[in-house]
Amino acid sequence: MTSHEASSTPTVSITEAPPNVTVLQQTPQLIALYTIIRDIKTQRADFVFYSNRIIRILVEEGLNHLPVQATSVSTPTDLTYKGLKFEGKICGVSIMRAGESMEQGLRDCCRSVRIGKILIQRDEETAEAKLFYEKLPEDIKDRYVLLLDPMLATGGSAIMAVDVLVAKGVPVERILFLNLISSPEGIDAFAKKFPKLKVITGFIDEGLNEQKFVVPGLGDFGDRYYCI
Ligand code: PRP
Repeated sequence: MTSHEASSTPTVSITEAPPNVTVLQQTPQLIALYTIIRDIKTQRADFVFYSNRIIRILVEEGLNHLPVQATSVSTPTDLTYKGLKFEGKICGVSIMRAGESMEQGLRDCCRSVRIGKILIQRDEETAEAKLFYEKLPEDIKDRYVLLLDPMLATGGSAIMAVDVLVAKGVPVERILFLNLISSPEGIDAFAKKFPKLKVITGFIDEGLNEQKFVVPGLGDFGDRYYCI
């Protein structure tokens, strides 16, 4: 172990957040996963593997926020077990391109879940979000929606995606936004605009740089997951 490693205390997420925001518990395991994906030296295969680990934790936490109702089952010992079952139908909606990386994690937990897509890209000069395409399940207004995007910087893309869902008739209180890394500015803007929408984020970082990238962040998630 180098002296640098020995002396440093790990940086954990900012925890002050609006009430509709849940930050994942900053366990040593989670911090170790973030350490790998933030590292500029991490190659794509590891970046994908360890991002997928975090995505799985986010999805599992997200499912804890869906409503449930009481149900009973008979067990093979002829007794009744009083349990719970999920109430209502769900679907995933990914904000392309980076959000698509979270679809498999959702599928791993929710077999044959329906998934809609919204293609929103930030203008590289202005960082303004622009909507190009959407394809959503027809009955989306009757479903709980797990909105997927790993990065929340200014919040522009996520806000635009929610506007698309609301225009389709989805009540904001039935949307849950799952996100790996957010900026304090972005999460504040998003959570205040939609106070009834639940946000699950893995990590609130320090802030945004001049190019409106989250810092210290991990760079361009979509590039690292799909291209670099
Ligand atoms: C990135 C990221 C988010 C968005 C966040 O996508 O995946 O969608 O920027 O920034 P914002 O909060 O300021 O809107 P990008 O537009 O770079 O496209 P990509 O998914 O193809 O990488």
